[in-house]
Amino acid sequence: MSKRWGMGIRTLAVDIGGSGVKVLVMDEEGMPLTERDRLDTPQPATPEAILRVIAKLASNKDFDRVSVGFPGVVKQGKTETAVNLNPDWIGFDLATALEQLLGQPTRVINDADMQGLGAIRGTGVELVITLGTGFGSALFLSGELVPNLEMGHHPFRKGETYEQQLGRAALDSRGKRRWNERVQQAIATLQPLFNLDMLYIGGGNAKHITIELPPNVKVVPNVTGLLGGIALWRNESLG
Ligand code: BGC
Repeated sequence: MSKRWGMGIRTLAVDIGGSGVKVLVMDEEGMPLTERDRLDTPQPATPEAILRVIAKLASNKDFDRVSVGFPGVVKQGKTETAVNLNPDWIGFDLATALEQLLGQPTRVINDADMQGLGAIRGTGVELVITLGTGFGSALFLSGELVPNLEMGHHPFRKGETYEQQLGRAALDSRGKRRWNERVQQAIATLQPLFNLDMLYIGGGNAKHITIELPPNVKVVPNVTGLLGGIALWRNESLG
């Protein structure tokens, strides 16, 4: 890893989503050094197609390491599920593939876990949920992550999962008012389950929330998904 005089280590953060792939370069403190850049997620969203998009987004940027948030279960750099992308991701070694493609050390974790690392304050029980194409979740105790909490595929109501009730398809088909009522019910269900100190709501659709939120619930901007890319390198057990 090269450390340039006066510049420090630059991290390329990549957020792979069901509808867009987003990137941002940050300095060691997590201060953005570039604008957030985005390209549509290719269809079919195979590993090869997504790697091509990442290579394109990275081509005009200068960085020393790479952090990736992936929308599925990730263990030791390998993607184990990818419900909203493509079955070819199952068992794919994304960290190694990106190290070869971009020539820099790479860490990969679940997208909601990365979002959480950028959002939490590091005390008590904190839960992060992300409302986008899918439903992401990340749980922290005193800043320590419980990785790959797949609450999105857990039953929520009416025989459907959180993702079926609150994902992008549900927002599009049910409309904002009904979707907001469901968000309210999800908050009311999750609060007494985890006895949360803080609940953060992120993801591209969090901006559609119009209900009044309890004092320990906070909407975080979507860029948080990328900002978590710095914390990924502070802790050896992550990524
Ligand atoms: C995936 C999660 C992911 C979430 C948000 C879900 O379908 O199973 O791993 O965090 O979508 O992208």
